Amino acid sequence: MSETPNLSSLQKEGEIFAPSAQALEKAIVTDFDALREEANANPPAFWERQARELEWFEPWNEVVKWQASPPKVEWFVGAKCNITVNALDRHVQNGNRNKVAFIWAAEEGEAVYKEKKVTYGELLRRVNQCANALKAMGVGKGDRVTIYMALTPALPIAMLACARIGAIHCVVYGGFSAPALRQRIEDSGSKVVICSDMGYRRGKRIDLKGIVDEATRGLHEVEKILVFRRGHTPIELHEPRELDWNETLDAQSPHCEPEVLDAEHPLFYLYTSGTTGKPKGIVHVHGGYAVGTSYTHKICFDLQPDDIYLCTADPGWITGHSYVVYGPLINGATVLLVEGALDFPDPGRWWKVVEKYGVNIFYSTPTAIRALMRFGEEYPAKYDLSSLRVLGSVGEPINPEAWLWFHKNVGKGNCPIVDTWWQTETGQFLIATVPSYPAKPGSPGKALPGIVADVVDREGNPVETGKGGFLVIKSQWPAMMRTISGDVERYNGYWELIPGCYAAGDVATKDEDGYFRVMGRADDVMNVSGYRIGTAEVESALVSHPAVAEAAVIGKPDPLKGESIKAFVILRDGFEGGDELLKTLTSHVRVELSPIAMPAEIDFVPSLPKTRSGKIMRRVLKAQELGVAPGDISTLED
Ligand code: PRX
Repeated sequence: MSETPNLSSLQKEGEIFAPSAQALEKAIVTDFDALREEANANPPAFWERQARELEWFEPWNEVVKWQASPPKVEWFVGAKCNITVNALDRHVQNGNRNKVAFIWAAEEGEAVYKEKKVTYGELLRRVNQCANALKAMGVGKGDRVTIYMALTPALPIAMLACARIGAIHCVVYGGFSAPALRQRIEDSGSKVVICSDMGYRRGKRIDLKGIVDEATRGLHEVEKILVFRRGHTPIELHEPRELDWNETLDAQSPHCEPEVLDAEHPLFYLYTSGTTGKPKGIVHVHGGYAVGTSYTHKICFDLQPDDIYLCTADPGWITGHSYVVYGPLINGATVLLVEGALDFPDPGRWWKVVEKYGVNIFYSTPTAIRALMRFGEEYPAKYDLSSLRVLGSVGEPINPEAWLWFHKNVGKGNCPIVDTWWQTETGQFLIATVPSYPAKPGSPGKALPGIVADVVDREGNPVETGKGGFLVIKSQWPAMMRTISGDVERYNGYWELIPGCYAAGDVATKDEDGYFRVMGRADDVMNVSGYRIGTAEVESALVSHPAVAEAAVIGKPDPLKGESIKAFVILRDGFEGGDELLKTLTSHVRVELSPIAMPAEIDFVPSLPKTRSGKIMRRVLKAQELGVAPGDISTLED
C-alpha cells in the first residue's frame, strides 16, 4: 500500500435488483437507510441498544473508549460476561433446551454419509464436560489451547469449552501442514492441543493426529493432547500426554459455572496471512465480539426462529468463528455443518443437503459458486431448492457473472444475495446490505448501521465518486480486533497508513448511491500505463466469457507500461486453448473492461495456486513468473 491508487472503476455498473416479495415479507430491517442514519447519528447509543439484547453478569459504565494514538479500543468498559452464556445457557433457560443447535452432515468416505443432531441442552452439557476436562488438565483463564480438528460438532464444543473457562482458543484449519501448525502452536504458547484422529475429504482419510505428532515433536510446552477419535478403528494413544476425548469428557460433570470475565477478556487468537511471511494472530474478545457478530448475523440474513442455516465455511477461518459458531449460536439458530468437498461424490452435494434439510439461508463464497457454475445448471436443477430464502457471499469480490448464476440457478430469482464485506480483523460484517434492500451484483453494498466507511487517498481525503482509493473505516465497531498477539507494532500499522482511519488494505470505489465495490487487496492492484486496474476486474471480465471457468491475473514489470497484465486461465470442459481463443479472450477483456486492461499474455493452465480457503494466491504466480521466492506459502493448498 505504497501510493494512492489512481484507478477508475472499469467494470460496467450492473443492474439493480429490487428485493423480492419473499425477502420483504420476512425482513427484520425494513428501512435500512433510516436505521443507518439513526445509528450513525450516535453509534455508541446504537451499539448499546444491541448489547442490551444479550446477558451480562454486570453492566458497563461506558460503551466505548477509543484512543487514537497509539490505537486502543475497549467496548462495554467494566462489564462482566461470558460469551457461552449467550450462546448456550440463555437458550436452555428460555425454553429452547431441545432445539437443535447443530446438524452434522458428515462425509464418511466412499460416499457414505451419516448425520448427527445436537440440541442446545446437549451442547451445553458436553461443553461443560469438556471445560471441566480442560480444567483437570491444568488449563485456566488466559491459557491458550490450539484446536486442530475435522468438521464435526466436537470442534465448536472444544471452542466453547475454552471460552467457558476463560481460556483462549486458537483454531488452526485442519488443512494446514505440520510446520504451519507448529508455528501457530509455538506463537500462541498453547499448553494443550485438541485434535481429531482423522478427517475425510473426497473419500480419503486425512491423518490429522499424525500431523499433530509431527508438529508437536520436541515441543515440551504442549503438556496434553486431547484426541477426538472420529475413525472407526481407534488409533493408539500414548498416555499420560495423550488422552481420549470421549473417555475424558464422559468422566466429567456436565455442570461447569461459566467464568465471570471482563468484556475485554480475549476469546480467541486466529492466525491470518499478511503480505509478509509470518502469520498474524488476530485477537478478539468476549463482549464486543458477541454483540457485533450476533447483531449482523441476524439483520443481514433475516434470521427467523425456525430457520435452518448453512454456512459452508470451516470453523478454522474467521467466517466459521463468527458466522458458523458464535453469531448463529448467540441467536439460537439451527446450524448445519456439512463436512467434505462441494463436488464429492458429485457437484450436487450441497443442493442435495439443501433439499434434505430444507435449508433457508445459504452462505458461501464466490470461488465455490464459480466452481459449481463450471459443472453446469443441471446439478442445482435436480433438487428442490424452494426452501431457500436468503443467499450470502463472502471472502472476495463476486463477479456479476457468478452473482447472476447464483441468483438464477440457486435462488430461482427470489432470494436476495447478501454480499458481506469484512475481514479476520473486523470480526463482523462492516459493509453489506440487508435482504430487503436493493442489491447491485458485484457490490457488497453500503456500510452497515453504526459503521462509517469511505474510499480515500493516501492523505485520507475522500476520492471522487467512482474513483478508486483505499477502503477505510472511520468509526469503531464492537467486534474489531483488539491487538495482534505478540506484535503490537503490526496492529498499530492498520491505523498508521492513512491519518485517522482504519486502513483495510483493500482498494475500492464508491458509487453515487454509496455502494462500495472492492477491487481487491491493495497489493493485488496493477499499475498499467499509469492506470491502476484491479486484478479482480480483469478476472471478472475473463470469467464472464463462456470458455473460462477460472482466471487469475498478475501484474508483471514492463519497461514501457510500468506493468503488463498476465492472465492464467482454466478453461471450461469442452474448450481448447490455442491462438484463436487467446485472441478471443484478449478482445473480450477489451470489450468488457477497457483496452488498457487487455492481458499481454494468457496462459492456459489446469489449476491455480489457492489457499485452503479457496483464494487464488496471485503472489505465488507472480513469484513463479519472476523467478523469485514466493514468501509465506503455508496457506497454499497444493
Ligand atoms: O479483500 C477483502 C476480501 O477478503 C479480505 C479479508 O480476508 P479474510 O480476513 O481472510 O476474511 C475473509 C472472510 C471475511 C478483505 O480485505 N473480502 C472479504 N469479503 C469480501 C471481500 N472482497 C470483496 N467482497 C467481499 N464481500
